[in-house]
Amino acid sequence: MSRRFHLALHPYGVGGPGQHGLWKDPSIAKNASIDIQYYIRQAQAAEHALFDALFIVDSQFINAGYPPHYLNRLEPLTLLSAVATHTRHLGLVGTASSTYNSPFNLARRFGSLDHISGGRAGWNVVTSFDTGTSRNYGLEEHLDYTTRYGRALESVNVVRGLWDSYEDDAFPADVESGVFLDPEKLHALNHVGDHFRVDGPLNLSRSPQGQPVIFQAGVSEEGRDLAAQVAEGIYAPGGTLENAREYYADIKRRTAEAGRNPDHIKIFIHGSPVVRGTDELAQQRADRIADEDYDFRASLALLGRAFGAHDFSQYDLDAPFPDVAHLAERGGRTGAAHIIAQAEERKLTLRQVVENFTERRESPFVGSPETVADTISRWFDAGTFDGINVAFRNDEDLKYFVEGVVPLLQQRGLFRTEYEANTLRGNLGLPIPVNRHTAERIPVGAR
Ligand SMILES: Cc1cc2nc3c(=O)[nH]c(=O)nc-3n(C[C@H](O)[C@H](O)[C@H](O)COP(=O)(O)O)c2cc1C
Repeated sequence: MSRRFHLALHPYGVGGPGQHGLWKDPSIAKNASIDIQYYIRQAQAAEHALFDALFIVDSQFINAGYPPHYLNRLEPLTLLSAVATHTRHLGLVGTASSTYNSPFNLARRFGSLDHISGGRAGWNVVTSFDTGTSRNYGLEEHLDYTTRYGRALESVNVVRGLWDSYEDDAFPADVESGVFLDPEKLHALNHVGDHFRVDGPLNLSRSPQGQPVIFQAGVSEEGRDLAAQVAEGIYAPGGTLENAREYYADIKRRTAEAGRNPDHIKIFIHGSPVVRGTDELAQQRADRIADEDYDFRASLALLGRAFGAHDFSQYDLDAPFPDVAHLAERGGRTGAAHIIAQAEERKLTLRQVVENFTERRESPFVGSPETVADTISRWFDAGTFDGINVAFRNDEDLKYFVEGVVPLLQQRGLFRTEYEANTLRGNLGLPIPVNRHTAERIPVGAR
């Protein structure tokens, strides 16, 4: 079978970073980000179009200058549990921080979502972008990169160990013999590591897909290494074709070097397609969205996020960009370093940084259905992604993509015409991990 690509839907509610004008769109309910019916409708539209997953990002720190969607939104696992009961095939990927959660709790919550959904759960492991989150959890400071990513790796390993607490045939539940549980098939973890001590076992068995799928989002060296070691999916920023190709090759190389099959890590790039009947109409729609979103004050506030929610309104806008590199050391270091390098190289003022930072980044996926399908095919063939995590301005924009672009991708054999499986692993083409204790006991050929 030819190589196929994957689609996930990333809903923004009333507007994420840079989408300053979205909440004013008359077709978006002002409470969309906290309305479960909004998420259920988005999920059902995605499932109707045979998408692989609904992808929910998250954060746990705000101030009044944060994007509308961040100010007032639902907790991802609670949200996804409700969505699970209104969908049958769609994967449900939730973001949760390894920095501010204990592995036992994560294993239990994602394991529960995996059962509720019949094997469609995914955990997007983040180490948390917002440094201020620490003060919501009793810590003076956000952990540094090395500690954060060390903790992330150990957390994933512990969570996976807990997910294997029960072998698949642990519950004979045989009324005649009076045996509910076979105790030989229940395993404690007894983990002692640098960051965690966890005895286990977890009080939850495995789902039809064995374990939830591990996603990761983070582009630093540490983030890439974490992905190479444990991730089965990645949410990557994308950027230009060259950026995406470099990132894709780098991750696949690191994954192979870590002794894993590079096909078993699916790289999703971010994409915001804008589709209309002709290229010209699509461009007009993209221009209109950009106009709706232009808001200098909101962009100035957003700039602070990578620097620990720093308030840049205190500076002279026309003076050189202030020396604030140290504020990003534990925050969005990778993105902040890029901004600082540009400011230094091009001798930019704060105003110019805001304009440059928020300068319109044209989506590569704008045009008629044919144009967008061609661009997607070209990017896919160029080795830039295994999937796209798509976001649409509103339902009408989603409809143009689903009715115009998806059928063309199907005709070209690039996208499925029916779901391959009922589990997220099955649809992504990922193997079901054999329970580690079963694997130890039974040789491969005899399983
Ligand atoms: C595409 C993408 C999506 C991300 N989504 C989230 C998110 O939803 N919540 C969050 O706390 N961090 C998110 N992160 C940030 C990571 O948690 C990470 O801590 C941050 O990017 C800084 O690490 P890095 O330099 O490795 O990227 C995301 C990062 C990327 C690249």
